[in-house]
Amino acid sequence: RFAWYEKMRKESPFTFDEEAKCWDVFSYDDIETITKNKEVFSSERPIEGERNILNLDPPRHTQLRALVSKAFTPRELALWKPRIEQITESLITELGAKAEFDLIRDLAYPLPVIVIADILGVPESDRESFKHWSDILVASPKASTPEAFAAFRKTRSESIAQMTDYFLHIIRKRQANPQSDLISVLVEAEIDGQKLTESEIQSFCGLLLAAGNETTTNLIGNTMYALLESPSRYEQLRKVPSLIPSAIEEGLRYRSPVQAIARVAKEDFDFGGNKVKAGQELILWIGSANRDETHFPHADQFLMERTPKNHLSFGKGIHFCLGAPLARMEGQIAFEHLVKRYPSLHLADSFQLNPIVSGFVYGLKSLA
Ligand code: HEM
Repeated sequence: RFAWYEKMRKESPFTFDEEAKCWDVFSYDDIETITKNKEVFSSERPIEGERNILNLDPPRHTQLRALVSKAFTPRELALWKPRIEQITESLITELGAKAEFDLIRDLAYPLPVIVIADILGVPESDRESFKHWSDILVASPKASTPEAFAAFRKTRSESIAQMTDYFLHIIRKRQANPQSDLISVLVEAEIDGQKLTESEIQSFCGLLLAAGNETTTNLIGNTMYALLESPSRYEQLRKVPSLIPSAIEEGLRYRSPVQAIARVAKEDFDFGGNKVKAGQELILWIGSANRDETHFPHADQFLMERTPKNHLSFGKGIHFCLGAPLARMEGQIAFEHLVKRYPSLHLADSFQLNPIVSGFVYGLKSLA
């Protein structure tokens, strides 16, 4: 994948894919220009179902974002910190004295699911069902035949339906009796004197699961993989834990959990001779932008002290990831606990690279 990006950046950084009928954009500067020009490059691509802030343009985007961002302020985050510490600690305690474990299955996967369930206000007693639906929601199809794939899609839509029903149930409970959770904030909020509809709230809850879970799992998994690939890195981090935030940023840049985002042109636009027509979609390869040598010297090396502040892993502009501070905090807490608890962590002898097969996502299915 990274070799393909490099080739494209050199040979054809802005190119029309005849098969997929969309533009592929590979250079940092072009991607930045597009994400900043929200008037021409819209997030309102054709989709199924209710729109949420990720695929809305202003003015609705601005109103909804202002509302939900209240739940992601530094003050709110500071309140969750002890709880995230506690969840991390208990997941690591469960590993006990095991000589071998799978970092994805045992920590990187459950941590963000439990945290988001907590933030939304899912009661402890419903956690199991919640986790089960989340599993199905983010699972990638392993099906090899069309029938098996159809069965996978059926299970997935059933589980989305069950989860949607479940959110509706919680929303109604909170309408009657507000608590101090995010669903209550959304239930009570008003835009121009009007409350959000139940389906807007449901759709936002679904977005938090889809946008926040697998990405944070992969942030932890990808960064740890980079640290263990060359064991002296883990050792250095253990000795100097103050490097953890910088290592996480470099992990985000080096193997970005989200490799691509998409926009659609609202009007014709001449992009240095490339004539984008109204209605055409553009795939912005942020995973490639993050390896662009003009912004990151020695881009193909993982340099723990680099602190790449300008990477595009969380996007740019008005849709900049709302959950970025939360994801960073979860990553930081996970690594702080891991280096403290495991002075000499290394890949198992039987380790085999087991990547998720998807163009838009970069992550590992297991890390043992
Ligand atoms: C938007 C990446 C974690 C919630 C985005 C976008 C990216 C991204 C690239 C921009 C999409 C675009 O411009 O089209 C990531 C990565 C994460 C992460 C790499 C983890 C390492 C989270 C978490 C949450 C979250 C933990 C919430 C709990 C959102 C939301 C948006 C968003 C709500 C839409 C914002 C808007 O449209 O205004 N994320 N995300 N993300 N992310 Fe994240």
